[in-house]
Amino acid sequence: MKDWYKEAVVYQIYPKSFCDSNGDGIGDIPGIISKLDYLKELGINTVWLSPCYVSPGDDKGYDIADYRMIDPVYGTMDDFKYMLDEMHKRDIRLLMDLVVNHTSDEHEWFVESKKGKDNPYRDYYIWKDPVDGHEPNGWKSNFGGSAWEYDEASGQYYLHLYSKKQPDLNWENEKVRREIVDMINYWLDMGVDGFRCDVINSISKDFTQEIPGDGPRLHEYINLLNRECFEPHNAMTVGEVWGLTPEQSLMLTDPKRNELSIAFQFDHMSVGRNGGRFYLCDFEPEKFMEHLFNWQYGLMDKGWNAICIENHDQPRALNRYADFENYRYEAATMLGTIELCLQGTPFIYQGQEIGLVNPTFNSLSECRDIEAINAYPELIEKFSEEKVMELFSKDSRDCGRAPIPWNSGKNGGFTDAEPWLKLHDRYESINVEEDLNSERSVFNYYKKLIDLHINNKTILYGQFHQEYNKGPVSVFSRYDDNDTILVICNFSDKEQEFKFGYRELIMSNYGDIKFNNTLPPYAALIVR
Ligand code: GLC
Ligand code: CA
Repeated sequence: MKDWYKEAVVYQIYPKSFCDSNGDGIGDIPGIISKLDYLKELGINTVWLSPCYVSPGDDKGYDIADYRMIDPVYGTMDDFKYMLDEMHKRDIRLLMDLVVNHTSDEHEWFVESKKGKDNPYRDYYIWKDPVDGHEPNGWKSNFGGSAWEYDEASGQYYLHLYSKKQPDLNWENEKVRREIVDMINYWLDMGVDGFRCDVINSISKDFTQEIPGDGPRLHEYINLLNRECFEPHNAMTVGEVWGLTPEQSLMLTDPKRNELSIAFQFDHMSVGRNGGRFYLCDFEPEKFMEHLFNWQYGLMDKGWNAICIENHDQPRALNRYADFENYRYEAATMLGTIELCLQGTPFIYQGQEIGLVNPTFNSLSECRDIEAINAYPELIEKFSEEKVMELFSKDSRDCGRAPIPWNSGKNGGFTDAEPWLKLHDRYESINVEEDLNSERSVFNYYKKLIDLHINNKTILYGQFHQEYNKGPVSVFSRYDDNDTILVICNFSDKEQEFKFGYRELIMSNYGDIKFNNTLPPYAALIVR
């Protein structure tokens, strides 16, 4: 099927935290295999697997030292192929993570490149002479500090938009492009179904800009990958793009342009932050919905959205956006309703389907994420230790990366050993087994939503219209020639008066109750 990506419901696995099979405290591929029936039961049809290639782990696998090998901590290549087979047997497709803006500094290309200006691999990376004895320009790393690292031996700087152990590849070099094309085809030939493309709008650089933005050759490079890899394999591709407008995003995803299938946007995730991560402000649901609606209109009929509420770079949505202490089930299912009823391909992050919440970090020694660890010195100058830990418990990437509690046993049944990162505090009561057995099971609600999403043509392909969006109440419709479906949400912990009528209740997170112009806290209704 040509456009299978439009009917995909994707589940993101962060392998380090999913399920540990061999008692070393780290999730692995056999652990994933043991949970495939669980995923099948949920009803998803595609998995995006975060990086599991050989990596020193400076950025938890997003620093790749060997693109063609599975890191032994996750298993062997045979384990991987077996997993792929077992997924395909269950009609689940696999998207791998494609991290080609940078490699690890331990990748053999960089080890060679660093040997000197004459090395044949020198131009695989971006080396520049100092300017007036300083960095070539003022670019900052996304993990803090300068994006340039000085190399004493050669007297040059290399570029790293992320950690200094993640040197940026030089895409201007045709040899680099050939290597990447071959590597992508290596995985596609093995049977992988597509890729999530990490920070893909950074691969082409424009050094005349003050901050690193899209370079002039971005579309040319992606078009090359499409022509030589994605299109011949009918692969699905989703680009992680930061800071693009819907118009720019259309250039990447308009099928006529032969670039990517879909693009992630993160505008709605910035609501509740004031100037970046760890700088929090009040969350306004109206703005959150406004961003999502804006992208619905922006891409409708021309491109295709990815809909995402959580991923491995974000804290849990329930902590960010809702009163989960009192309304965990209602808020989790309301967020799910929005995600599964908008037009686009939903990406559900592991744990989201049971309404998982953040852990609490009490000291820096409990944190593992390079972004938080690097931010600590700056934050501790402004805030108390207690406040910084509160910020880390609310907004660090470790929040979403905490291991999955499968049951109420030791370490939530994730591992027999010490887990690599702590679990959330209440895993004895909030875990998969508990949720599955609960009358108010978030999993069961997601299962129904996914089933509705996949089988209802109006929800899959119908037009989108914003009906209402004010304060915490928002209403949108999905319609085509045969049907009109309304989705009504109360994004708050207070009852809301709202006049509305409907013929038929398709689903609601308050069961079969009759709604009389009031919406209970976090109510979500799908009606005709
Ligand atoms: C993406 C990944 C993030 C990683 C970064 C650098 O944003 O999602 O986890 O740190 O790229 O590869
Ligand atoms: Ca393991």
